Amino acid sequence: MKQGAATRSERFLKACRREETDCTPIWIMRQAGRYLPEYRELRKKHAMLEMAKTPELAARVTLLPLQEMDLDAAILFSDIMVPLEGMGVSFRIEENVGPIVEAPIRSAEQIRALRPFDAPRDVPFVLEAIRQVRRELNGKVPLIGFAGAPFTLASYLLEGRSPRRFRWTKALMLEGSPWWDDLMRRLTDTTIAYLQAQVEAGAQALQLFDSWAGALSPPHYARFVLPHTRRIFQALRSAGIPLIHFGTETATLLELMAEAGPDVVGADWRMPLDEAWRRMGHERAIQGNLDPAVLFAPWQSVQKEARDVLDRAAGRSGHIFNLGHGILPPTPVETLERLVAFVHEHAGAVDSNENTEKRQ
Ligand code: CP3
Repeated sequence: MKQGAATRSERFLKACRREETDCTPIWIMRQAGRYLPEYRELRKKHAMLEMAKTPELAARVTLLPLQEMDLDAAILFSDIMVPLEGMGVSFRIEENVGPIVEAPIRSAEQIRALRPFDAPRDVPFVLEAIRQVRRELNGKVPLIGFAGAPFTLASYLLEGRSPRRFRWTKALMLEGSPWWDDLMRRLTDTTIAYLQAQVEAGAQALQLFDSWAGALSPPHYARFVLPHTRRIFQALRSAGIPLIHFGTETATLLELMAEAGPDVVGADWRMPLDEAWRRMGHERAIQGNLDPAVLFAPWQSVQKEARDVLDRAAGRSGHIFNLGHGILPPTPVETLERLVAFVHEHAGAVDSNENTEKRQ
């Protein structure tokens, strides 16, 4: 191994900081989900939210994929909707549909009625799950905490479910009243408090999921979303841990998402990784970006597509391999295991920035 190169326990955090690593780190969005037989077994006995709210179960599910594969990070098993309950929002999670909000926001009164979030009061089970996972991981790999970004949370609150046309969201956003920014400010306050509490409990990196931000044009994103996400990254900067910003269909937004201030920007698969990195700027690390559907192809094709992602990173420090969005439930576990091994064996990712620049 090269001098100064990171071993498994530190390669993910080092790559987030664009430091040299012994190989490219890899973790997978939704790695603790339904493609794992053990997860499906647990789900026969417990609902998803029940598992998320029971620290022993949340910790166990968080660790499941790490027993099977040499992943370089764990991500807490929970959902982006969980902190909203503390604000007084009732919802359920329906299989193959996602979150359903009982009373979608249709009036200013409902926004005014949202309660300020308080992490120890509202999500003690999340904080306890984090502490348990940290104890059990015992330094093996770092734990990623996460939250939904205000725009994605607002779109669930306004549409009532996974949004398609963003009719209510964009209507409120564009009507010119102060209520859009009021709602976004409340969700931003919640997100900051939630993520800070996760850091205090032991999260070693944070990912902010703005999954639906790609529904916005760059000018709308810049006006209605960016000021709020920027405030989140500013508030968390002092935590001193890597901050990751992810969304899908964000090819036209990558520069603005980088401007919000994360250390790492997650890219979906719709733009080649080298182009995405150029757009967000090489002073940020990049996470991504294999198309999750590729994992249903024969191994030879998976390998070719994975190699293409790695080749586009071109040995530059600061690439964290991931899928371009969450792993799909029927993905064969064996293919994912082979992908993890393949990414770790790939030799192209060991050069420092300096060497890469000299070579080019
Ligand atoms: O990555 C991980 O392993 C951590 C766990 C995690 C879940 N949800 C567990 C989950 C994370 C990081 C999330 C975030 C989340 N939740 C996002 C942002 C990331 C993304 O995928 O864009 C969003 C948009 C949601 C809302 C949500 N919750 C959806 C769209 C769904 C899927 C519905 C379905 O059945 O396909 C959920 C439910 C959910 N969250 C599941 C899991 C494992 C499936 C629950 C089940 O077992 O039925």
